[in-house]
Amino acid sequence: MSKPVIVSGIQPTGLLHIGNYLGALKNWVDLQNSGKYDCFFFLADYHSITENYSPAEKKEQIFNLVCDYLASGLDPKKSTIFVQSQIPECTELAWIFNTLTPIGELERMTQFKDKSNKQVKNINAGLLTYPILQAADILIYHGEFVPVGQDQVQHLELAHDTVKWFNNKYATEYFKDVKPLLTETPKIMSLIESTAKMSKSAGAKHYIGIDESPEIIAQKISKAVTTPEGIKNLETIYNVFNSSMQGKFDANKMAETKKIIATGIADYFDDFRKKKMELMKDKKRVMKILEEGKAKAQPIAQKTLKEVKEIIGLI
Ligand code: ADP
Ligand code: TRP
Repeated sequence: MSKPVIVSGIQPTGLLHIGNYLGALKNWVDLQNSGKYDCFFFLADYHSITENYSPAEKKEQIFNLVCDYLASGLDPKKSTIFVQSQIPECTELAWIFNTLTPIGELERMTQFKDKSNKQVKNINAGLLTYPILQAADILIYHGEFVPVGQDQVQHLELAHDTVKWFNNKYATEYFKDVKPLLTETPKIMSLIESTAKMSKSAGAKHYIGIDESPEIIAQKISKAVTTPEGIKNLETIYNVFNSSMQGKFDANKMAETKKIIATGIADYFDDFRKKKMELMKDKKRVMKILEEGKAKAQPIAQKTLKEVKEIIGLI
């Protein structure tokens, strides 16, 4: 019996923060190591070009993100790790899904509305059809479970609907349902705006990057707001990263508690920082992992696309 398939991706857009780690990446590593799933983890570069970006930086961002994946514990022997744009069959499947998706369903997506407000001069069609490509990312590998943070759940509902639309229109049961897998910490909040989620795009003061130095971590945590939501968020962070050896969380002594939290985070990622530095020096090895990932992913994508074309009457 084949194992259930897990698919997820992150956009190569900037440094990863502890929200990305606790909502997605840490879970990917745990799911991979459980041995219960066939795992596909990719870098969503096609999604990332829907935002304003500098072409000169994109390759570096891709390299940096794959080093994050590997240093966190994703293992090319256990998971298929690859770059989205290297599998063009996926974008072809997205075209087919375009013809099934009502525009209204895309226009009501929270992320589309947020990003349209953020980049008013660049409300491109890719920003609107973004969740269609996301559905194709998953379904081309017959993904059943998708480990992501809370903010992606609405997109996965659209992937779930895509399965329904496809299977109904073509009177088939070809695609299986898609379900999100959330962690216990699916929404880490910004350090200085405790009602907004921690996000790469809001600015460096809002987040803790997973490869930031202990000094920067201490500085950023010391400036974290201590509104009731802010304290709750810090306690969530403390509960994941601090061992009992590092002292107690005390909401009445936040200055002291913040130092404990900062040490906890810095210690937790100590090994990660070292591994990442090693990987960054070995570009050849890292690029080879991506080539091998492509070689594993592509035949599956080709098979799915061929079967879909048969079902929809093109071949
Ligand atoms: P960002 O909003 O920082 O640009 P991405 O959209 O690239 O992050 O998200 C990558 C992954 O991390 C997704 O699975 C997303 O749901 C998850 N994620 C992002 N921000 C958070 C957060 N603050 N808390 C938990 N998970 C998050
Ligand atoms: N939209 C996701 C994000 O911003 C990234 C992504 C693209 C993704 N395709 C996916 C996540 C497929 C899960 C499955 O984080």
